Amino acid sequence: MANFTCLGAARTAVLSRLGWDVARDGLSDAPRVRVLAGEERHDTVDLALRYLGLGSPTLVAADEQGRIRVDALTDSLKAVDSGTPVVVCLQAGNVHSGAFDPLEAAIEIAHRHGAWVHVDGAFGLWAAAAPSLRHLVAGVAGADSWGTDAHKTLNVPYDCGIAIVEDPVAMRSTFGAHASYLISDDPGPGDPLEKVPEFSRRARGVPVWAALRSLGRSGVAELVERLAGHARAMAEGIARIDGARVLNDVVYTQVCVEFGDDARTRAVTARLIADGTVWMSGSRWRDRDVLRISVSNWSTDADDVRRSVDAVRRASADASI
Ligand SMILES: Cc1ncc(COP(=O)(O)O)c(C=O)c1O
Repeated sequence: MANFTCLGAARTAVLSRLGWDVARDGLSDAPRVRVLAGEERHDTVDLALRYLGLGSPTLVAADEQGRIRVDALTDSLKAVDSGTPVVVCLQAGNVHSGAFDPLEAAIEIAHRHGAWVHVDGAFGLWAAAAPSLRHLVAGVAGADSWGTDAHKTLNVPYDCGIAIVEDPVAMRSTFGAHASYLISDDPGPGDPLEKVPEFSRRARGVPVWAALRSLGRSGVAELVERLAGHARAMAEGIARIDGARVLNDVVYTQVCVEFGDDARTRAVTARLIADGTVWMSGSRWRDRDVLRISVSNWSTDADDVRRSVDAVRRASADASI
């Protein structure tokens, strides 16, 4: 919903630059909005575009870590007819590798072509809070909208997506709604219902506020650095297991591992899940079956990491293929 909200505002803004009022006139007969996204964008970007009637994105090649390639993005932007409204979707935190798109360069080239830039930073945007990881999101402030999830890194209950949009007019003209029976904030900074798809909603901001209030700036930084540190330790431990190979550069909280071939990787994953010590999921990344690790629980500690690596070692030794 964070991606949906940001991309809704993006749709309004890029069409209004051409004099098209999507709130009034809808999408029928509107100029076609082109959306470019890296080939390893998260599936929910496509889902949000579907809700918005924008169809599937044009995919831009990614490198071996899943980061959008700036040369490919440049070519794709050049191929779009001038005057076409364009939205570029970038990613901070690849769900498999944890990799970050080269945000600074990608945002710069996208803006040079007049595009709105949205960054899906569901879990990766939190790197900005951590001094040792902040370099991963260098340049991110130059984007036009950002989606992130408090229910991932911040560990509040589900359903606390956060949409941040630079342009308040685009936001309000997309989601603003007024009813005379409601007390309005006018002339204040605006009511929450003007910035979200729902009219009535529970106070999702309260647990987010409470978590931020109790952790404070240094607590959030420490949380993010701890998660990334555990992922590095997990990767180092697993890399020492016979037959296991860590496939990604572990820059953040994700680790992808293979155990020889797809069948063996699946067998190790099944063993590991049956063992019950730790829960990691199987997935497919870059045409391979992988064991996918995402360290995201605040309570995970060094002992959990050690026990998890031991469980992976046992599963690997037991998988009889
Ligand atoms: C990069 C990215 N974007 C979007 C999402 C979707 O988030 P949610 O499942 O909270 O809707 C995820 C979930 O893992 C993600 O990793």
